[in-house]
Amino acid sequence: MVIGSRGSLVVGAGLDVPLVGGGSARYINLDYAASAPALVEVWDEIQALLPWYSSVHRGAGFRSQVSTAAYEGARDSVRSFLGGRSDDTVIFTRNTTDAINLLARCLPRKTTVITTLVEHHANLLPWRRYHSAVELPVPASPAELLADVDETLARAPEEQPVLLAVTGASNVTGEVWPIAELAKLAHHYGARILVDCAQLAPHRAVDIAGLDLDWVALSGHKMYAPFGTGALVGRTDWLATSDPYLAGGGSVDVVSAQGATWTSLPDRHEGGSPNVVGAFALAAACRALQGIGMVTVAAEEDRLGTLLRERLAGIPGVVTYQTWPGYPHRVGIAAFSVDGRDHHEVATILSAEHGIGVRSGSFCAHPLLAHLAGGGDWRPGCGRDVPGAIRASLGLGSRVEDIDRLATALLEITQRGPRWTYRTLADGSVVPEPDDRRLPSFLSPASRPEVAELLVGAAAGGR
Ligand SMILES: Cc1ncc(COP(=O)(O)O)c(C=O)c1O
Repeated sequence: MVIGSRGSLVVGAGLDVPLVGGGSARYINLDYAASAPALVEVWDEIQALLPWYSSVHRGAGFRSQVSTAAYEGARDSVRSFLGGRSDDTVIFTRNTTDAINLLARCLPRKTTVITTLVEHHANLLPWRRYHSAVELPVPASPAELLADVDETLARAPEEQPVLLAVTGASNVTGEVWPIAELAKLAHHYGARILVDCAQLAPHRAVDIAGLDLDWVALSGHKMYAPFGTGALVGRTDWLATSDPYLAGGGSVDVVSAQGATWTSLPDRHEGGSPNVVGAFALAAACRALQGIGMVTVAAEEDRLGTLLRERLAGIPGVVTYQTWPGYPHRVGIAAFSVDGRDHHEVATILSAEHGIGVRSGSFCAHPLLAHLAGGGDWRPGCGRDVPGAIRASLGLGSRVEDIDRLATALLEITQRGPRWTYRTLADGSVVPEPDDRRLPSFLSPASRPEVAELLVGAAAGGR
């Protein structure tokens, strides 16, 4: 699958990274779930836009008109990619967190929000902040999830708005949630549904109209467009009547000494100068993904994801995590741990000795990690450490060879241990000691003294 003018799929494919002790290796990026590299096609489109970049909306110059057309046109590409209804609004935000906080600010008074402890903190904390939220426990199966949601919806106060806020795919286990059934249930009880598509949209087709979803939220940087834009897409009613999320220029029609008349959607919630490049990049990614076809994307990732999980499960001493054992619908994400070794240590060894990038920690999903780690009763402040794991995740440009390299490295770590020495810092992170890997020249301490200071601070455990 090759797109883009330079013959590779993502920017930075084939990059070599330094290893401790000298030498280098092709970088194996297994951290797509945190942030995906830019698609070459996105980068090409941005370069075409940049000479034309200018202020949007009120600029009279021709470049302003081009930039405005690029920015406003981006909404159609995003809407079309997500299968949105023609009257759905597309509001550009910074990311998924921003999109969900925006919706949380716009819910009618006394809305009951139903969510689950599987969620990323971005789909948990905004509801706690603004509303009365019911947080369902981590369900043992999709059937249990549907039964819990059904029961909770049935008990929700009548005559008051209800929102079901769920993930499209778990950022820890990769399990794809039964959103079609959840949407049906929500609507059966007159409730609305928001789907956090941060992990779903880059890997599976999302069909807002077909699945009858009310809102979806997503992040451009997880969709091969790391230029600082996400989106909230969906119904207008609750959004059109609430105060602007960001009050200021752009969100208003008239301001007088007495007050202000807020403008209509989508500008109403996009106060301040918008991120034109980010929105254009997100739209370019949507077009590129549509060009490949989400069915093709999903099929390839399914094959690689299954291989990843099989290879991990075959390594003695590696434990993999899932909420629903045997459940087949998963995006290319696998969380695991290595017996007897700290998760941060394993991740650092993978990077320093093998040139493999994974993520370690609790993935902004503390309640779910506590559940998976066997501490189902864990709550913030209960005195126990937040449990952690290692996460490998795939995306466009991932290959079988990447999984082979991870499996070989983990075998070595479990059988022989590290080849280098490491130090655990005060914040629990682990660093090679010494670390003789050189930064790329644009960050080298010689040319950037402030970077040298940062590195010294980090090594002293100051960050
Ligand atoms: C499922 C899920 N939801 C929300 C988010 C938050 O995304 P962002 O950090 O781009 O706001 C993430 C990020 O990892 C995620 O995986």
